[in-house]
Amino acid sequence: MGYNVAIDGPAGAGKSTIAKLVAKKKGYIYVDTGAMYRGLAIHFLEKGVSADDRDAVAEACLDADVSVKYEDGAQQIYLNGRNVTPKLRMEEVGNMASRASAIPAVREKLLELQRTLAQKEDVIMDGRDIGTNILPNADVKIYLTASVETRARRRYDELKAKGEECDLQKIARDIEERDARDMNREIAPLRKADDAVLVDSSNMSIEEVVDEICGYCRL
Ligand code: DC
Repeated sequence: MGYNVAIDGPAGAGKSTIAKLVAKKKGYIYVDTGAMYRGLAIHFLEKGVSADDRDAVAEACLDADVSVKYEDGAQQIYLNGRNVTPKLRMEEVGNMASRASAIPAVREKLLELQRTLAQKEDVIMDGRDIGTNILPNADVKIYLTASVETRARRRYDELKAKGEECDLQKIARDIEERDARDMNREIAPLRKADDAVLVDSSNMSIEEVVDEICGYCRL
């Protein structure tokens, strides 16, 4: 059985940045479960399936094979044998992932993949329902959050740094919409597990968050 650290929280809270750094310090494998949902989302987009059509999404799941490989320590997502990692961060892919992840067939499809990885390896796994649903017996559970304003500002700075045009108000609205969808869906909604530690990174540096989380990890 691997040593398991679960890190859940809303979009833009910094989960992946933090989890990658904790993984490096502690020697864990970083498992980004959002990327798996995004990989499936690419399949739905390519097939032209609407996230509103639950039956069509469930059917499309049948001919999708999502797998994970680690190349130079970085997670790569394969969709039916094709590496789709470069496409994962596209806005439309994130939106489709958020919408489709409310459909039970989609969640069932990825559950075993996530649990199997955590069983075999020491992992820090980030997502929305890791502490509550995927790894209820995780050794450490973190709920990482930050205010909408902070998350929007971080995203804005990130896009600006890449030279992309963007609007802070719109980013904040998108974040609120994404939160509402992830937190209010019927199946495995985003919520803090009762035994998770709440870390609000609004006024913390990356190093402070990493140090705090490493402090909870025994291994
Ligand atoms: O973390 P992310 O932005 O890459 O995730 C994309 C979407 O996938 C997110 O809006 C909700 C869904 N997701 C989920 O439902 N459960 C997870 N464990 C991870 C992601």
